[in-house]
Amino acid sequence: MFNTIDYIMTANADIKIEKTTQSRVKDYDVNNVPFGKCFSDHMFIAEYADGKWNKASIMPYQDMPMSYSMAALHYGQAIFEGMKAYKSDSGEVSIFRPIDNFNRMNKSAIRMAMPEVPEEIFMGGLIELLKLDSAWIPTSETGSLYIRPFLISTDEAIGVKASETYKFVIITCPAGKYYAEPIKVLIETNYIRAVQGGVGYVKAAGNYGRSLYPTKLAQQKGYQQVIWTDGATHSFLEESGTMNLMFVIGDTLVTPALSDTILDGITRRSVLALARDWGMNVEERKISIQEILDGHAKGLIKEAFGVGTAATIAQIIGIGHVDNYYPLPAVEEREFSNKIDVTLRNIRKGKVEDKMGWMFKVK
Ligand code: COI
Repeated sequence: MFNTIDYIMTANADIKIEKTTQSRVKDYDVNNVPFGKCFSDHMFIAEYADGKWNKASIMPYQDMPMSYSMAALHYGQAIFEGMKAYKSDSGEVSIFRPIDNFNRMNKSAIRMAMPEVPEEIFMGGLIELLKLDSAWIPTSETGSLYIRPFLISTDEAIGVKASETYKFVIITCPAGKYYAEPIKVLIETNYIRAVQGGVGYVKAAGNYGRSLYPTKLAQQKGYQQVIWTDGATHSFLEESGTMNLMFVIGDTLVTPALSDTILDGITRRSVLALARDWGMNVEERKISIQEILDGHAKGLIKEAFGVGTAATIAQIIGIGHVDNYYPLPAVEEREFSNKIDVTLRNIRKGKVEDKMGWMFKVK
């Protein structure tokens, strides 16, 4: 069922591999662990210094020795990615669209004045790591191995400048659902996630840190997440929490168009591609708060959901704006997002044909 892509791993010989002598996998039920809290046996690290990528190694998962003056801690020159690996019923391991994550990581690196990670390091490290830790991949219906590649500046120095040394690291953790339940979201019209000319379109660590306080305020009001609005007018919707945002309005799938302030989500891309393939009307454009409020009054907002790697499809059951709450149709009635959720899951688990060629097989 898988679309097999042969990956020529030029860096393989250069990766020093130190295997754990005692796997921890039997200590966990990998199909039933909280998201992002238990890490697999091994990790991959590549180091950059003197203008080039030098050492690459796989080692048992461990803490990082570092100086309190390490640049990433002070100035946020740090980026990351999120992707997932799956195991089919016959035990085949594959990763969902990793080349897309690789490309986006380097887009982030350029914007944050960091060195790009070579493909053979990113993909070579990833493949070797998954071969070693495949026992950590959940087999449950909604389970996957969440993969977190990240790049951090490691100069030991106080002073704002691009670091001269970096570490590129990959860690992984078994993952089930990110949101246990459908979520309520509050439209945020005071705080801003991203501005024109800023870094909202890349996966810079600081984008997430800055979101926490507004999210905490929304949570105090009974919401799980916020919907970010544009920084200039606070009238147009951008993203929801850490996810891209989608609506079915009437019979059209609508999502905010990509811009400087919106992350080019890989789940977003995949949902749009499937919708178009199914012949659905798809619009990538500005969505105003007013359009949603008017659409709600007319009963046109059929579905609302967030899409992201961690969350996959996160159903939104109601939207708050100022002091009002707008409940949305029951999740069971949502034809499109439920179909997309099942289809993506089936593609990832190798249960249906991967017509788009999204699954990268680890051999
Ligand atoms: C993802 O969806 O993978 C993310 O990066 C969001 C979050 C876990 C930070």
